[in-house]
Amino acid sequence: MKKIFISLTFAASLFIVACNGGSKSSSSESTKEEKTSAPAANVSNDIQISANDQMKFSTNELHVKANEKVTLTMKNEGTQPKEAMGHNFVLLKDGTDLPTFAQAAIQAPDHIPANNPAIIAHTKLLGPGESDTIEFTVPAGTYTYICSSPGHYLTMTGVLTAE
Ligand code: CU
Repeated sequence: MKKIFISLTFAASLFIVACNGGSKSSSSESTKEEKTSAPAANVSNDIQISANDQMKFSTNELHVKANEKVTLTMKNEGTQPKEAMGHNFVLLKDGTDLPTFAQAAIQAPDHIPANNPAIIAHTKLLGPGESDTIEFTVPAGTYTYICSSPGHYLTMTGVLTAE
């Protein structure tokens, strides 16, 4: 009987220690979180983005102010011919099914499917050294951007956050 009592007390004290430990670590975690989120992401409505022959965008993350005009310039810094390695920037509504969209884009002129409701904004298809500037305004939310050249969305994709 005594043994059971002791082990119960032991279990109870373990429980208390575990709870204390838990609340301590979670409070220190939240302080840490505040610190890391303090230097806010680079929010800018004047965006320069580029693409290259390695089928990469210069950034896979963009942050803009919601409901204010965004001016985006995209440059193809590659040297491969447009037919082989043309790039564009296509901003899509959240939740767009990328494989389905990319499939529709393959046959479309300049890889932009006409009247596709998923498209919010897009640049021209750019050959080496070419650039294009577009303007758009989006409400708060997260959006996906891709290059819609065949197969490129697999490596050329990013998230634009409007806040
Ligand atoms: Cu591309």
